Amino acid sequence: MTRKITIASQKGGVGKTAITINLAYSLRRLGKKVLIVDGDSQGGVATACRLKILNSKGLVQVLRGEENLEGVAVPLDGDDLAAIGTGASTPEDIVYFEEQAAVGRLGALFSGDFDNYDFILYDAPVGIGVVTRGLFAISDSFIQVLNCRAGTVITLSRLLNLYIWIRKNFNPDLKIEGILFNMLNSSSVIESKIVKQLKSRLPARLFFDTAIPFDDAFEVAAIKALPLEKLQAGHRTARDFMALAVEVETRKHQFIGDVMFGDDYDFAPPEEARGEESALAPNRDELKEALSEMCENGGFYGAVVADEMGFPLADYSSPIGVDALATCSSLLGEALVKAGTIIEMSEVNNLVMDINQEDKLVLHRFSLLDENYMLVAICPREVEALGEIGLATARIIKSLS
Ligand SMILES: Nc1ncnc2c1ncn2[C@@H]1O[C@H](COP(=O)(O)OP(=O)(O)O)[C@@H](O)[C@H]1O
Ligand SMILES: [Mg+2]
Repeated sequence: MTRKITIASQKGGVGKTAITINLAYSLRRLGKKVLIVDGDSQGGVATACRLKILNSKGLVQVLRGEENLEGVAVPLDGDDLAAIGTGASTPEDIVYFEEQAAVGRLGALFSGDFDNYDFILYDAPVGIGVVTRGLFAISDSFIQVLNCRAGTVITLSRLLNLYIWIRKNFNPDLKIEGILFNMLNSSSVIESKIVKQLKSRLPARLFFDTAIPFDDAFEVAAIKALPLEKLQAGHRTARDFMALAVEVETRKHQFIGDVMFGDDYDFAPPEEARGEESALAPNRDELKEALSEMCENGGFYGAVVADEMGFPLADYSSPIGVDALATCSSLLGEALVKAGTIIEMSEVNNLVMDINQEDKLVLHRFSLLDENYMLVAICPREVEALGEIGLATARIIKSLS
């Protein structure tokens, strides 16, 4: 039986295409016959595999009845691995491809077992537009690729709600093959914390044991249009892809049960887990009051206090979304630490940034009991912000401790 897996993510540039291709090569090494299908009219796979040079025809021509799938499948390195591009080269092609996906015609192309392939890996375009939904509809399962950046944790519940929605509306049999971390920097304390947070919020079996590290070899591989296993410098990470392929291969009997999440699944970690996670159980009312006083006395529009992973602890009248501001604080806080290290000043804790002609963002980073926090506020550019922020920080620290 052919197993059809879509590789998807909400964000672009997280490594879907790189994962699709390298996983395909590793599955082939395990003796499987694998077909890669490019679902991205931007031509992710096509570019990565030089498919355009080899064959400019693809799904679009098959959908138009000008070609058949066998005719557009390009063998990559032997008979057991092939790739099909979208074949979309003009704007008309792209629109046509999306329209066809929207009316469910991709499914008809790949129905049933396909030419003795053990696996078909669909490389989805970014997000959940018509093509991704079309691919979900014809897949047995999907792999969710995540980077461990600030904001990832916050978007996860949206993502899983989306999965429930897709199951309901497009494919009731769709399973989660697994969540895969890519570009992981295992020496980053923040990334390790984010992984831990995510794992504490969801059933462990949702995650692949294997994570793909950040590795410069991917860039060389991309330039040479080769998989990592063909590069000396890529061998270490190619081994991780072998481990991933083994997981994918053995997971076939371990698909997640049919109804994993009910409609009212609570994605927040259980109270106890959160208690263990952080030594601090903040009194949110007190934090909010400190923020509201700061804003009123100091002339700020609004403010958020967040932990270093970008989890908002409290907010007051945030003029942009609370999640957005908290995520921003996490990214800027990280940059601040890095910049401080480079100029050999470890105590660089304030950042002021103009966000338009009138307004600025002010960030203050502070620590308590080995945890780092960010207070971020938005105010008119002429406001003398740091004094008031210092006072508020003292209050926040008091209510956190
Ligand atoms: N683990 C990794 N380490 C370093 N670079 C990576 C890694 N995974 C992917 N990349 C690089 O990141 C860029 C985006 O990857 P890509 O697969 O095109 O993302 P997507 O398909 O999700 O848009 C590419 O240049 C790719 O080579
Ligand atoms: Mg891509």
